[in-house]
This record gives sequence, C-alpha cells and structure tokens, in this order.
Amino acid sequence: MLQTKNRVIMISGANRGIGFETAKLLKNKGYLLSLGARNTDKIDMENIENKLIKCNWDAKNKLSSKKWVDETLSAFGKIDGLVMNAGVELGGDLEGDSEEEFDEMFEVNFKGPLRLVREALPELKKIDSGRVINVVSLAGKRPRKSKMLGYSASKFAAMSLTNAIRLAGWDDGVRATSICPGMVKTRMTEEVIVPEGQFKMDPEVIAQTIAYALSLPNSAAVAEILVNSRLEDMF
Ligand SMILES: NC(=O)c1ccc[n+]([C@@H]2O[C@H](COP(=O)([O-])OP(=O)(O)OC[C@H]3O[C@@H](n4cnc5c(N)ncnc54)[C@H](OP(=O)(O)O)[C@@H]3O)[C@@H](O)[C@H]2O)c1
Repeated sequence: MLQTKNRVIMISGANRGIGFETAKLLKNKGYLLSLGARNTDKIDMENIENKLIKCNWDAKNKLSSKKWVDETLSAFGKIDGLVMNAGVELGGDLEGDSEEEFDEMFEVNFKGPLRLVREALPELKKIDSGRVINVVSLAGKRPRKSKMLGYSASKFAAMSLTNAIRLAGWDDGVRATSICPGMVKTRMTEEVIVPEGQFKMDPEVIAQTIAYALSLPNSAAVAEILVNSRLEDMF
C-alpha cells in the first residue's frame, strides 16, 4: 500500500459533507492537505504545523482551478492526489422545458472536475503514483428517476471523465477511481425521507472508501467502487 505521510492531496468541496469528512480522515492519517471551497472561512479545520492550506475554488470559474493548483504547488511543491468531490443535485426533469438546472449540473459536476484535472494532471504524472478520486454517484451508473435525468446525465459524464483520466495517466503511474455512493447523510439529502429497509450512509463511510482508493499501489487499479444503501438487483 502507498504511504500516507507527506503525500499532498487536494479535496474539492472540503467545507462540508463528504468532502469535510474526507479532509478530517486524511488529516489524521498524516496526509498534507490542500482544501478547496467556494468560501474558505467555512472550512472548520486548523492548520497545525503547516500541514494544510485552504484555497478558494469555484467549479464554475476556469481560472480558479489553475490558481488552486498553483497555490498547492507553492505550499507543498507537488501534488500526489486529487479528490474531486464538489457537486450539486438539482434534479433535471425529463418532462418540462427548463434547461437551467441541466446547465448548472454539467458546469459543476462535469466541467468543474474537468477544469481541475486538466490543471493537476501534469503534476500528478510527475510523481509516478498520482491518484484521482472522482466522487460520482450510483446515479452515474443507472438512471432511477425521470425527474433526476439532469443529475444522472451529469454523473454519467463524470464517469466518462474518470475513464479518460485512467487512459491518459496510466503510463505515468496515475490511477483514477470513481466512487459511486447511494444515499449519504449530508445536506444534499437532508429533505429525503428513505422508506423502511433503505438507509442513508454516514459520510465517514465514503471518506474511508476514498482513503482506501488513495492507498492502493499502481499494480492494483480500481476503476469504480459502488457503495449501495438499498437493495438493487443490478448491484
Ligand atoms: N449525499 C448523497 O447522497 C450523495 C450520493 C452520491 C454522490 N454524492 C456526491 O458526493 C459529492 C459531495 O456531496 P455531499 O453529499 O457531501 O453534499 P453537500 O453536503 O451538499 O456538499 C456539496 C459540496 O459541493 C460544493 N459545491 C457546490 N457547488 C460548488 C461550486 N460551484 N464550486 C465549488 N464547490 C461547490 C459545496 O460547497 P458550498 O458549501 O459552497 O455550496 C459543498 O462543499 C457530490 O459530488 C455529490 O454529487 C452525494
């Protein structure tokens, strides 16, 4: 397994939910962290012994990806891993004529990570064991509701992105993994009531899954990890 100490990991959407739980876990494991959020004041984590930095990052702003990568390199001199976690769920109904939420979800869930990885990949290629973790969703594996077509389509696009990264990075030791959770207990799902027999996972579970994927050696490439919270005959 790869070491954790002094590996530099960037995490997007690190101020809450899955991103924040991942930051807490990786900090405890000894990683150096570069935490990205739209508002860094909302990242409730202390920088002890210069082991983490907080950077402004907006998925919709192309320049902010370059700025975040540059700030990470200035602070730590290298990038070992990128956790592309930030995302939005705005539905996106098949029936209806609004396209705004479709555009927003493609901007944040697909183009945001695309912008970020385009800036970070050259650095990840330099170290021969770069890792990219893309927090996608089971919605990127199968559409379940016609009312969520937009979210699902943006996450299918995100799955393609992970695969493109796997292909582009292989020869230089970069390994990319899509993490596809079912329902997770975060602000994104706070209004969803799950029927009996189904669950909402704690975000710590996904944080652990991300940490596992980050720790695998180059010889054990894992393209996808599906984590279900309900019984589905597909998985
Ligand atoms: N919760 C679930 O059931 C579930 C299931 C499968 C997959 N996921 C995926 O898991 C990831 C994390 O979601 P979560 O459950 O932790 O939800 P969350 O608590 O709503 O967190 C979403 C994160 O994304 C950030 N974000 C949203 N728009 C952004 C933008 N334009 N630029 C930068 N950051 C932006 C948010 O920042 P602000 O605080 O600034 O808004 C926040 O940090 C998402 O990609 C989501 O699609 C979640």
